[in-house]
Amino acid sequence: MSQILTVENLYKHFPIAGSAKVVQAINNVSFSIHPGETLGLVGESGSGKTTVGRIIVGLIEASAGNIRFDPQRREGSRQGSTTGKIQLVFQEPNESLDPRMKIGTTIAEPLQALKVELSERLRRIREAIGLVRLDPALLDAYPTELSAGQQQRVGIARAMITHPELVVLDEPTSALDPTARAEIIDLLKRIQAERNTAYLFISHDLSTVRFISHRVAVMYLGMIVEQGDAETLFNRPHHPYSSGLLSSVLLPHPDLAMESSVSLKGEIPSPINLPQGCFLASRCPFVINRCRATMPPAESVGPGHLVHCYRHEEVAGATPASATFASFAAEAERILARPREQPARFIPSRTEVHHYVRTA
Ligand SMILES: Nc1ncnc2c1ncn2[C@@H]1O[C@H](COP(=O)(O)OP(=O)(O)O)[C@@H](O)[C@H]1O
Ligand code: SF4
Ligand SMILES: [Mg+2]
Repeated sequence: MSQILTVENLYKHFPIAGSAKVVQAINNVSFSIHPGETLGLVGESGSGKTTVGRIIVGLIEASAGNIRFDPQRREGSRQGSTTGKIQLVFQEPNESLDPRMKIGTTIAEPLQALKVELSERLRRIREAIGLVRLDPALLDAYPTELSAGQQQRVGIARAMITHPELVVLDEPTSALDPTARAEIIDLLKRIQAERNTAYLFISHDLSTVRFISHRVAVMYLGMIVEQGDAETLFNRPHHPYSSGLLSSVLLPHPDLAMESSVSLKGEIPSPINLPQGCFLASRCPFVINRCRATMPPAESVGPGHLVHCYRHEEVAGATPASATFASFAAEAERILARPREQPARFIPSRTEVHHYVRTA
């Protein structure tokens, strides 16, 4: 299958004012995403996830590396953003929505740059709010009148209105309560099934990533330390950092807890003074002398499964297989299948959306 996005050897170093040093935020990151696929990008705060997302949507430039969006059309990711084929959904819905702008105008905003005809704009607004199950009465409201879950539906409608092929979702459910979180995940999965949209789903919360991702990339200090298909990675992580993240995860049911023995201690090194060798050495229970001398290279440990660790075999052996992914998925399905509030109608009339297009 061809990739919709290929990222190769990406680096981002932020200069520090008045200093010759730099913040080494991204350090040699490579991954790809297929059409209709969700890649979960996980890691603790500060690991570089948002920076990767911002580079892909063209908000900031990489220091080095290649990004190819949809090789068939040979577009750079910046072009993808300007044509609406790559979109971004932010973490804090209330901060990403202009408080002075009505919801209808907000949703229609990305169409302005695309010079879409009036009749097509009307059709797209109706389609977008139907897609995210937003009550048409809210088109006339301001963001503060909406719940956090409704605000995030607006963020998703605004992203989906241009029919993107790739959406970067930066912690889209972190600010939501568990019910709203489950509803948004459910919604994103449904949209993906309908439209074959690819997602880069960024989150520090592995339990959420587990619900939605086909593949997962684990970041630590600007590096992807392990990536592979979600089922394999969650059942038998090969990197101590993945294992440590998994053992601290909040699961929807205690029976699904992993008996991981890996706990990470100590401070995360500063991205301004990265250590020589493996970046995890100061916190890793598996560390040996070699780890402190040289960075472990990427090793393939299975189809599409890459890991940067000298001791990946021991790590995989020491991590008991979790309750199977199938039982986890079944529990997830059960939680997501709970009855939810259903607005009386989802598809607004032409008249209802007309006003927002004219004022957009
Ligand atoms: N504009 C910036 N200038 C300097 N440092 C930055 C900037 N943006 C992010 N960083 C630094 O880059 C690192 C990665 O940040 P970020 O991508 O936001 O991580 P995450 O999203 O995983 O929490 C952090 O150390 C952060 O402080
Ligand atoms: S290379 Fe060494 S320090 Fe790094 S994760 Fe593997 S065992 Fe730990
Ligand atoms: Mg972030």
